[in-house]
Parts: sequence; C-alpha cells; structure tokens
Amino acid sequence: LILFGEHAVVYGRHALAAPVPLAMKATAAEADSGMQLLIPQWNISEYYAYDAEPRHSLQRTLRLILERLGLEQRGVSIRVEAGVPRAMGLGGSAALAVAVIRALDMRFELGLDDQAVDALAFEAEQIAHGRASGLDNAVATYGRPILFRRGEPPAVREVLVAEDTEMVVGLTGREGLTAKMVARVAAAREASWSAYERIFDEIDTLTLHGCDALERADFAELGRLMNLCHGLLNAIGVSTHDLERLVEVARDHGALGAKLTGAGGGGAMVALAPDNADAIERAMRAAGYRAFRVTLPRAEHNEESA
Ligand code: MEV
Repeated sequence: LILFGEHAVVYGRHALAAPVPLAMKATAAEADSGMQLLIPQWNISEYYAYDAEPRHSLQRTLRLILERLGLEQRGVSIRVEAGVPRAMGLGGSAALAVAVIRALDMRFELGLDDQAVDALAFEAEQIAHGRASGLDNAVATYGRPILFRRGEPPAVREVLVAEDTEMVVGLTGREGLTAKMVARVAAAREASWSAYERIFDEIDTLTLHGCDALERADFAELGRLMNLCHGLLNAIGVSTHDLERLVEVARDHGALGAKLTGAGGGGAMVALAPDNADAIERAMRAAGYRAFRVTLPRAEHNEESA
C-alpha cells in the first residue's frame, strides 16, 4: 500500500509504503520436468516446457527466477495462494515474485538472505513493469512500512509508526496496468519536463512530511498531506472516475485524507480513517465497490520503548 510517492519514486524521489496483511503464500515441489504454476485465485493453471518460447510476462518472470537460482534444469511445481487481488494496485506482482523466490529458497535450501530475495524480485519486477522503482518488491520482502528511494542498492529505512493507524482500501474493480501508467507518465514528463519535475519534487516533500506525521501519529496532518498528494496524482493524469468517486465517498464520510494508491488508471485507493473506518467501508460498498480495512500497526520498536 503506497501512502506517498507513487510515480515520483520512479524518478528518484522518496516513497512511503506499508505492507497489507493479505498473505501471498507459495509452496514449491520438484516435478518431472518444466515449470508448473498454479494460482487458483487468479485463475492461473499453467505448464511451461522450459525450452518453449515464453508466452507472457509471468512465464518470463518464472524462467528468470529459476535461471538466477540455478534451478533451470530441475522440474518445479509451484502453487500460490494469492490473498492479494491481481492488478489492483496493491503490488501483487512483486508479492508473487517474493513468495515464489522464498518457496524455492526453502525447497532447495538455497540460503538466500533478504537482500538477495529483494534483488531478484526487483529483476522480476523489471519484466512485469519495465521501469519499476523497486518499491513494491522492497515492501513485499521486508514486510514493514518503509521510506524508500531507488538506487543501487536502494535506500530503505523502516518507518516507526507511532500509533495503530486505521485505513480503508477501496478497489475500483478495474485493472490498473502499472506498466501502461508508468509509460504514460514517462511520455508526459518528456513533453512537459519542468512542470512534471516540479510536481515530483512537491510529492517528495509531501512524502517526507507524511513520514514525519506518521511517526508522530499526527493524523490530521497526515490526512491533509494525502489529499494534496492525490491532487498531484490527478494532475499527472493517473486518476480515474472510479478513483475520484471512491475518494469523494471516503471524504464525505469523514476520512481525514484519501488518495489513489499505486499506479492508478484503475486499481485501488486508500483512506485514512482513525475514527470511522466502518462507516467509510460501508459507504464504499454501498457505492458499488469492494473495500476492506487495514491497520498499520504501531512499530514494535515503539512498543518496546513504551
Ligand atoms: C507501482 O506500484 C508504483 C509506481 O510508482 C511504479 C514503481 O514504483 O515501480 C507507479
């Protein structure tokens, strides 16, 4: 769940994101030959001969992962229980890559550390997204709220959430194709360079202030900054009618802030709702959308020092 900095993060600005507690669970087993992939919740049940030309990005991703792990000569069968909806702006492809890498690591006792998992998931994300910043795979790997800046290696620091922070996620039900949205923003930035650069700088400032607000549990300020960020994302053309509607419903029902999350063009939005998450979730459902509550838990570090 990206709270601040989507798109700007592709161009070297900070982003702040947190994991959603929707598990992506993968198990790997040895098979006779080739690669078998089963993801019942995404209606994926496929077998690929290893030497066949990859038909789509999922197959290319799997092949890359097996090659990098030195497993291309082994037959593998992977089953994934996907708690994350596909193409809904919630980093499903990165979560999938991390889960598959970890399942292979366990099954074949490869001894990968987090950094190795993250680096390989990043390579896999490049196939899915082209210009991926590395944010989604970092959140999926480390499983904690992070302030992120791309680089080699990326700068990642844990955000120490001061208090349990209640959010509601609304799903538009329309696929937001990240690669397409990222490419569209790239083209617009080429055409209107300085205007886009100024917007990305502004988003960077909002992200850093948002991080500070989250670490002080200043929800009023956090909400205002989220609203500003949404306005800038709308300005760069990644919002949609459904996202605007969900944002409006959330604000009308008392959300302190609401913004699209992820690449936009469909996908998901997030509302900050410390006092009225139930009412907001109900209102989103009444408006015809799927919605669910997410709590960003207070950081363990803060619990220890309390
Ligand atoms: C997609 O989850 C987030 C974007 O910023 C792309 C990226 O960071 O790779 C839109």
